[in-house]
Amino acid sequence: MSAKILDGKIIADELRAKVATEAARISAKLKRKPGLAAVLVGEDPASQAYVKSKAKATNEAGMVSFEHRLPETTSEKDLLALIAKLNADDAVDGILVQLPLPKRIDTSRVIEAVDPAKDVDGFHPMNAGKLATGSPSLVPGTPLGCLIMAKKAHASLSGLDAVVVGRSNIVGKPLAQLLIAESATVTVAHSRTKELREVCRRAELLFVAVGKPEFVKGDWIKPGATVIDVGINRVPGADGKNKLVGDVAYDEAAKVAGWITPVPGGVGRMTVACLLVNTLRAAAARAGLEAPNI
Ligand code: GUN
Repeated sequence: MSAKILDGKIIADELRAKVATEAARISAKLKRKPGLAAVLVGEDPASQAYVKSKAKATNEAGMVSFEHRLPETTSEKDLLALIAKLNADDAVDGILVQLPLPKRIDTSRVIEAVDPAKDVDGFHPMNAGKLATGSPSLVPGTPLGCLIMAKKAHASLSGLDAVVVGRSNIVGKPLAQLLIAESATVTVAHSRTKELREVCRRAELLFVAVGKPEFVKGDWIKPGATVIDVGINRVPGADGKNKLVGDVAYDEAAKVAGWITPVPGGVGRMTVACLLVNTLRAAAARAGLEAPNI
């Protein structure tokens, strides 16, 4: 058996095309383009690449990108002052602060400083709380992307056994909330979970977000399961150059699974597309317009 591929490029491009159409409609009503401000502190190459691709996608969708690149030595006070300025700026509908921040900076304080109405990452406790209590507004992009992909494989997730490996605030926890809202039976596994292989083998839907290259092996997967791999890890390839691999050993897993996401070309693309959706939602909500039809 060989798994069918959930192609993040195709699914994300569909979503981005819808965003572009809705962005044009909302721009006409606002008499300006929706704006997304991205804040990057420091020079981490992966973070730089993410921010660059988010800015490019924002422009391509007919929205405006404001980029703020701050030196590694930036103080928490200066970062909070920039966020206050962006909160007050009417041209800015969405604010994202790229994580991780330098260790000196209190990440929670920074996340809590972002106006919840502009929190397009969905990381503010207000938005996390709304998601957990069943009235989501701005939902984190990576878990939302995972959910959209799972729904391409299954018309309904109701009653399915879902296992989420990883319990981060960015992926694991919000993903578990989204799956509960879809009436899946959800298990959240993590580094202290006993018999992790057996837990994974029970999953009809397996989501892996642990940040460890090829951590989940083929014999951890229930035959026919849907496997959504959130990992993006750089490892040395056979040719000496770095290559990207996921948190799942793809070749082994693809022999067992029913559906699988590749890396690259899987969930990563969905994160950016969902960020654009959130920017549009924030722009519409701030202006009192109806939510975009996406
Ligand atoms: N770092 C890793 N993932 C994300 C994300 O989705 N948003 C932000 N802002 N930083 C991240």
